[in-house]
Amino acid sequence: MVFGGSGFVGGHLARRLARDGHEVTVATRYAPAARHLSVVPGVRIRQFSPFDSQSLDRELPGHDAVVNLIGILNERGFGGHGFRRVHVELVESLAEAAHRQGIRRFLHMSALNAGNGSSFYLQTRGEGEELVRQAQNYGQLDTTMFRPSTIFGPDDSFLNRFAGLLKISPVLPLARPGAFFSPVFVGDVVEAMARVLADESSYGKTYELCGTETWSLKELVIWVRDQLGLKRLVIGLPDWAGRLQGRVFDFVPGKPFSSDNFNSLTVDSVCMQDGFGELGIEPWGMSQLAPDWLGQGGKQVRYQDFRRRAGRNRPGAGAAD
Ligand SMILES: NC(=O)c1ccc[n+]([C@@H]2O[C@H](COP(=O)([O-])OP(=O)(O)OC[C@H]3O[C@@H](n4cnc5c(N)ncnc54)[C@H](OP(=O)(O)O)[C@@H]3O)[C@@H](O)[C@H]2O)c1
Repeated sequence: MVFGGSGFVGGHLARRLARDGHEVTVATRYAPAARHLSVVPGVRIRQFSPFDSQSLDRELPGHDAVVNLIGILNERGFGGHGFRRVHVELVESLAEAAHRQGIRRFLHMSALNAGNGSSFYLQTRGEGEELVRQAQNYGQLDTTMFRPSTIFGPDDSFLNRFAGLLKISPVLPLARPGAFFSPVFVGDVVEAMARVLADESSYGKTYELCGTETWSLKELVIWVRDQLGLKRLVIGLPDWAGRLQGRVFDFVPGKPFSSDNFNSLTVDSVCMQDGFGELGIEPWGMSQLAPDWLGQGGKQVRYQDFRRRAGRNRPGAGAAD
């Protein structure tokens, strides 16, 4: 049973596990959000609140593993209560329900830097991990945790958000332009999860997941801009202005950016451990894959790059050029 299965990673994971021959239940609070998965053979959708322990006790029996992908980047109110409810209380209740129902296998998606820095996002991620660790240490569950950097893919909300902003705005002011990321491909993330599912050697382990490239936020946004073939000014904000941007957006409905996001960006999202290496997976880098889906502009740039490498764009140039 995949909690958060209606989301970006969840969709990729559900398809991947179904392709491997697993029967996958996508748990969602709102079934239409997972409609795109209803046509996938081997995937079924169940609508209920993951916060309701009676529903959990009704829905979990019959499953061999729980995968928790539920997470939020911003809370509705202030003060960390919303983050704590989703990243800590919900984790505790899912772990307890799995234990009650005799389901031992528990995969938990966390994030790089969980427990570090001052943001409620990262703090509560750390507290959630601690609960999973305890369930493992007390012998209640067989757990594996994942700490990815920012995840990219054709349907992500990271590159696509910047692409969308760049398309509509002549100037893009960026908070924390020097923050570093190692964007990781969603296909590699679900490969890691699929590989460990039945692998006892992964019990009790935490895998950091990073792509092969490290980018500063500003470099990354400029690269997206160039892939789209747009002429836009990308301005890195000093921290006082970035903080102010967060405070202003705290009050914009839907919080496209927030003070808490700013605080999360004060810690670089790069790996200290080679989780993919441990799992025998060779991950991709963002510049190798993302041009394919960053629009026609992106495709043209990539074709030019292929031609250049093949030595076909300059008469007389050799393939080794
Ligand atoms: N995407 C990234 O770059 C990235 C990087 C590091 C870590 N992660 C973590 O990886 C996991 C999956 O990421 P994702 O990008 O696939 O996220 P996503 O697309 O936002 O999906 C998250 C899912 O969580 C559920 N959810 C959201 N808010 C909830 C709430 N208040 N209460 C209960 N359920 C809620 C939603 O399911 P329903 O609405 O269907 O119930 C949603 O489908 C998350 O834990 C995320 O924090 C993601």
